[in-house]
Amino acid sequence: MYKILRKKELVPNIYQMDIEAKRVAKSALPGQFVIVKVDERGERVPLTICDYDREEGSVSIVFQTLGASTKKLAEKEAGEEIRDFVGPLGNPSEVVTEEAEKLKEHRIVFIAGGVGTAPVYPQVKMLKEKGIKVDVIIGTKSKHTLILEKEFREVAENLYICTDDGSYGYHGLVTEKLKELLDDGEKNYDLCVAIGPMIMMKFVSRLTKEYQLKTIVSLNPIMVDGTGMCGACRVTVGDEVKFACVDGPEFDGHLIQFDEAMRRQSMYKSQEGKKTIEKEQ
Ligand code: NAD
Ligand code: FES
Repeated sequence: MYKILRKKELVPNIYQMDIEAKRVAKSALPGQFVIVKVDERGERVPLTICDYDREEGSVSIVFQTLGASTKKLAEKEAGEEIRDFVGPLGNPSEVVTEEAEKLKEHRIVFIAGGVGTAPVYPQVKMLKEKGIKVDVIIGTKSKHTLILEKEFREVAENLYICTDDGSYGYHGLVTEKLKELLDDGEKNYDLCVAIGPMIMMKFVSRLTKEYQLKTIVSLNPIMVDGTGMCGACRVTVGDEVKFACVDGPEFDGHLIQFDEAMRRQSMYKSQEGKKTIEKEQ
């Protein structure tokens, strides 16, 4: 059993929980994920690690209440326990494991979308600790759904906040802001890392391909075992079939077959959810 040390509602329906999980905290690195099971009969929910404290032996997760399992998780309070907290799973992020000297040659831009903003934070924080300056573009529906702004202001060289409704920062999608920066020419980025909804990663990758800007995306498809055995997280990368849980979660955004990945994700959604995805594609 794993104790919930702290629980905070960052904005309505998006929660941060710090979980006591000493073994996970000891070896966790940015980019990796955990699979959480609230109770004996609960579903397995994959969640990207958002932070960790090796001394305290805790790992932070951020999640949105979307289905029954995340709602159940959100109902738990600090001091209570959850059944399973398996990890760290997947490979650590390519950029944070790269040597600092090599990274200094890069001009990196991170694109963080919605709840996907949370897993971007430990990567940018670790790069800052290595002395690497990076720009961050956050996209969110409105001012009221924006998370971790204060934390990002402390670690990003330049922070661009975009809202879909124009209630704060730049009025528009992350792709529009990124295009502006790329056209501006001053930035000369040579690496882009995008984490957020699949549709955002698809369009960021489509844009950066035009600019020949190397792009890494972090996929969070449906996962069951998280160990490469069940095939639930299958994704086509170039002409190869990969499993996000063991081969990823990071992949070259220019090689992912996003439409297929989105179709697979929607297999578990309601008819209504499927129609929205088909419309967006
Ligand atoms: P959202 O719908 O608020 O989108 C976030 C931003 O993405 C928007 O503000 C916009 O700038 C950009 N965006 C959206 N559609 C776009 C398009 N068609 N073209 C260009 N840009 C676009 O995000 P949300 O509701 O917080 O998203 C939740 C989703 O994020 C869930 O599906 C969840 O699975 C996913 N998620 C992914 C990760 C990951 O590791 N990849 C982590 C957490 C959550
Ligand atoms: Fe089963 Fe990846 S979750 S193979």
